[in-house]
Amino acid sequence: MINTKKMKYYYIATMGCQMNEYDSDSIGSILQGQGLLSTESPDKADLIIINTCTVREKADQKAFSLLGRMIIIKKKRSNIVLGMMGCIAQQEGRALLKKFPELDLVIGTREKGNISSMLDRIVNNGERIAATDISLTSIHNFKHSEVFFKGRIKSNLSIMEGCNNFCSYCIVPYVRGREESRPQEDIVKEAKMLVKQGVKEITLLGQNVNSYSAGKGGKVKFPELLKNIAEIEGLHRIRFTTSHPKDLSDDLINAFIEIEKLCQHMHLPFQSGSDRILKLMNRKYTSKEYMRLVSMLRDINPGFSITSDVIVGFPGESEDDFKKTLDLIEKIEFDNLFSFKYSDRKGTKAAEMPDKLDETEKASRLKTLQDLQKEKTLLRNKRLEGKTEEVLVDGLSKLGTQYSGRTGTNKIINFNSDTNVIGDIVKVKVNRAFINSLNGELLI
Ligand code: SAH
Ligand code: SF4
Ligand code: F3S
Repeated sequence: MINTKKMKYYYIATMGCQMNEYDSDSIGSILQGQGLLSTESPDKADLIIINTCTVREKADQKAFSLLGRMIIIKKKRSNIVLGMMGCIAQQEGRALLKKFPELDLVIGTREKGNISSMLDRIVNNGERIAATDISLTSIHNFKHSEVFFKGRIKSNLSIMEGCNNFCSYCIVPYVRGREESRPQEDIVKEAKMLVKQGVKEITLLGQNVNSYSAGKGGKVKFPELLKNIAEIEGLHRIRFTTSHPKDLSDDLINAFIEIEKLCQHMHLPFQSGSDRILKLMNRKYTSKEYMRLVSMLRDINPGFSITSDVIVGFPGESEDDFKKTLDLIEKIEFDNLFSFKYSDRKGTKAAEMPDKLDETEKASRLKTLQDLQKEKTLLRNKRLEGKTEEVLVDGLSKLGTQYSGRTGTNKIINFNSDTNVIGDIVKVKVNRAFINSLNGELLI
């Protein structure tokens, strides 16, 4: 139990992917359950935690630059607790305590449930702690606050930890450990807890949700889990991320036909259009197989939204390999694409590979690819003009002048309304499509 007399406000800065968002929420929920309050201002906080990502070098730089700023705060108010969690914390462990004397706490990716006792030791015994046991299982067995998610319309829910795929460029399997599926009962229980607090849309998270396997003999697979979650009354939408193309099953594709609450959108990273590079990446599928999966999804519904991740400038990527990636983008017409320059990660296979490309070449390829994708995104969005979409309204538009929500295909749509429709599911007719959003009118 944390001595809340000594600690009132906590501040968490979250970087990286939805897994980190989920972990920050979990820690927030534990802390609030113990009486702490959240603040948006690190200057006011008694506890500061930076939740870090290390997927690319840029993520490292961002985290250490923020740490620098938080260390300045700690130097002014030495009685506050400064912690680092997430993937850098897992990777670097105790070394961080040595390097940064101001740091009190390093929490690995599987240690979040132990935060209370760690804080207790820091506040009451003056210890400095690094907890990074990657072999821990059952890491979600802790008590959530009864009200932490109140007021939220959408939330994430982790269904499995870790990754066994070892794509040659990727650090994630090293910092998140081996795959571990959560028991179905626990997930359903947590989903119900979210819905009870008002959540209408849940995104199920895993590095590779297709390999979800739980229960006796691993009998409960992902499509069954989806069906059971869909039965929760009051839950309107289900999404999930991420899927690996190598084990996207027919059952999962069929789930999009059978489960009405399942949004018509899949994030399906392809990484490269060249089979030679895919092999070097250890992705275990070809560009042809990838395209077949996409056509199966778009056969269900031509409007089915496919988003993806791609890496440019993988070691040894030739002009011809890169052209194959562009060809695939041309053919598939992704609804949206997250594109990255290859970044060396120490300890991965790719970091040892020959024929690294220079930064200028990678940057130039990235620009070519992004320009092409912008055309495709706009094209896909334009096809929605004149159509009516079901929208979950989640707030106001960026300018604050209109209401804003997401279509089932996860596109942002802004529109006017005379009454407050935040949290509602409404029908909106699309009038104009842009690259980053749609504009429409509310239908009564
Ligand atoms: N588990 C998910 C996401 C992993 S990280 C998946 O498998 O799809 C998110 C994305 O970051 C990856 O899809 C990949 O495109 C990118 N990425 C991972 N490692 C990278 C590296 N070393 N350099 C550049 N991009 C990388
Ligand atoms: Fe990384 Fe590949 Fe695992 Fe995704 S599937 S987290 S890219 S190793
Ligand atoms: Fe980054 Fe860790 Fe996610 S490395 S992308 S925060 S799993």
